[in-house]
Amino acid sequence: MVTLMSCISEILDAISESGIRRLFELASKEENVISLGIGEPDFDTPQFIKDYAIEALNRGMTHYTPNSGIRILREAISEKLKKENGIFADPDKNIMITIGANQAFFLVLSTFIKPGDEIIIPSPYFVTHAAAARLVGGKVVEIETKIEEGFKLLPERVKKSITNRTKCIIICTPNNPTGAIIGRKELEEIANIAIEHNLKIISDEVYEKLIYDNNRHFSIASLNGISDRVITINSFSKTFAMTGWRIGYVVADERTIAKMIKFQMYLAACPTSFAQYAAAMALRDSKSAHWIEEMRREYERRRNFLYKRLCEIDGFTVYKPEGAFYIFPKIGLLDDNKIAERILKEAKVVVVPGSAFGTYGLGHLRLCYTLPIEKLEEACNRIEEFMMKI
Ligand SMILES: Cc1ncc(COP(=O)(O)O)c(C=O)c1O
Repeated sequence: MVTLMSCISEILDAISESGIRRLFELASKEENVISLGIGEPDFDTPQFIKDYAIEALNRGMTHYTPNSGIRILREAISEKLKKENGIFADPDKNIMITIGANQAFFLVLSTFIKPGDEIIIPSPYFVTHAAAARLVGGKVVEIETKIEEGFKLLPERVKKSITNRTKCIIICTPNNPTGAIIGRKELEEIANIAIEHNLKIISDEVYEKLIYDNNRHFSIASLNGISDRVITINSFSKTFAMTGWRIGYVVADERTIAKMIKFQMYLAACPTSFAQYAAAMALRDSKSAHWIEEMRREYERRRNFLYKRLCEIDGFTVYKPEGAFYIFPKIGLLDDNKIAERILKEAKVVVVPGSAFGTYGLGHLRLCYTLPIEKLEEACNRIEEFMMKI
């Protein structure tokens, strides 16, 4: 235990603070700033979901819950997975509730990664994927996804990066920060590679409901013969605008879940009781589907606006995202850290430097469209003016 703790402490010293946070600190010193930096919905949690939490509090659901989460939430998730994702998961064996999806990555990787094991992550990536991989002692192997290829995850590149230390691949669809989705055909190829090389797949699907242009979300765990090696991670944060409630979940084989539950017992005991109840009811309430669709449509409208407007700005190469609420233009050879800092200081707009999302994010900027169109328009005008000056 002593070695493990000193190991985590050393890793914490070695990994850098998220580039996103650094920029927010700079932004807090500026006035009249428009922030396209924060990756969370600007929608409020729907009132009917808040009411369920209040009901739970009034009914005395104020105590510890099972380490795996309350059963009605695990049941509701199991029903949802069967109906919407084609995944069959036993609520008592294959599902665990976590403190947001963020906690899940660390818990999941802790169950099977040994020091020096390699974890393949398509890059640019969501920062927590790489941080969690490193914190458990793993080695991150980035594979490039390029704007010129629509940020597609090319199976050939996955194959080339496999060594005898490779243990798993982390995929994310729709992707943060690129907005790319992984289609069924590519997922089938990735599944075949995983079977051939005995790898696990961690599939982050927190943006599954934010998909545009009639594209459809596909869960890799629903493919035949793969479910025992896929670990699906999802959350209520983005789908129900519940980022502060901290409710996520993991769907996995029985052994993985049992090991995670053991860890959770010592780590946090459980996620918040009344938030779990509200999450269960959010899945079961028929009002949710309509509310989610309204939100999705609004993001699609903003995506369309922002994509068109950024394409008009000289110096930006823009890929039209298919999902999530991010756009990730390329600024070529310019230093993304310097440009993001100058955009903040001179144009008063917060954008995140692409290199915060891994080696292959270099030379890009990430903009979130979690603001009304009028604000996005003003931000684009400011950025355009800035780009004309440099
Ligand atoms: C791809 C991705 N996965 C997971 C998360 C974390 O979600 P949660 O709020 O459930 O921890 C985020 C948050 O930004 C994300 O972008």
